[in-house]
Amino acid sequence: MVDIEGIDQNNIPNHVAIIMDGNGRWAREKGHERIFGHLNGVEAVRASLKAARKIGVKFLTLYAFSTENWNRPKEEVDALMDLLVKTIVEEVKDLHENKVKLRAIGSLDSLPEACRKELDEAVEQTKDNGEVELVLALSYSARWEIVEAIRKIAASDVKSEDIDESLVAEYLATRDLPDPELMIRTSGEQRISNFLLWQIAYSELYFTPKFWPDFREDDFYDAIRDYQRRQRRFGKTSEQVIIPEQE
Ligand code: FPP
Repeated sequence: MVDIEGIDQNNIPNHVAIIMDGNGRWAREKGHERIFGHLNGVEAVRASLKAARKIGVKFLTLYAFSTENWNRPKEEVDALMDLLVKTIVEEVKDLHENKVKLRAIGSLDSLPEACRKELDEAVEQTKDNGEVELVLALSYSARWEIVEAIRKIAASDVKSEDIDESLVAEYLATRDLPDPELMIRTSGEQRISNFLLWQIAYSELYFTPKFWPDFREDDFYDAIRDYQRRQRRFGKTSEQVIIPEQE
C-alpha cells in the first residue's frame, strides 16, 4: 500500500464501482468522432486501476457497456467491441504481471464471438490472481441482472419462505463480490443508469464533472478522500455511529 496524502489507510473502501461517462462529449469538444473519446478512455481505466492497487482497493467494477448501449449507432457499437477486444489483448499480460484478476458480469452471451473469446481467455489466464479484481460490466444492466435472478429462483426448488436478502444476493451476477462502498460517476451527470441497483443500497455516491478520458489517479484519490469524510450510518442516528476519529 502506498501512502497518499490525506488518505486514511484504515478506511479504504473494499470495492469501488465506476460509471465511466463523458467519452462522447470529450471527443466532440475536441472536434473528433465519439469513438476517439472511448479510445482515450482506456488511459483513465489504467489510471484508476493503478490508483486502486496503490491504496489497497480490492475490487474495481467498471460499467464498460450497458444493455442500453446496444441501441447506439451500429458503427459506435462495433468500434466499442473492437476496442474492448484490442484492449484486453494488449493489457492481459500487464494485468497478469500485476496480479490483477479480470472478471466480467453481464449478458456475456450477447457479446460478439471474438470479444467473448478474448474475454474468456483473459479471465482464465488471470483467475488465480488475488491482489485486486477488475470487474468489467459488459452488456450489463441491473434490472436485467435482477430479472435473471428472479427467473433462476423461480426455476429452483427454493421455497418462498426461504427467500431473503442473502438468498437473492446469491443469485446475482455479483454473488461473490462485496457491495461497493463507493460509486463514482464522471461527466457531471448525477444518476445511476441501471448500474448495480441492488448492490448500492448503502453505497456513497461521488459525482465529478470531469469527463472520463480526463480522469486520472489524483481524481480517484479525490473521490476516496471525499468518501472518507462521509459518515456512513446504515439507517442509524449520527449518535449511534462511532466516528473513526473518536474510536
Ligand atoms: C460512456 O461515455 C462510455 C462508454 C459507454 C464506454 C466506456 C468504454 C471505455 C472507456 C473503453 C475501454 C474500457 C475498457 C474497460 C477496456 P459516453 O459515450 O456515454 O459519453 P457521452 O455521455 O459524452 O456521450
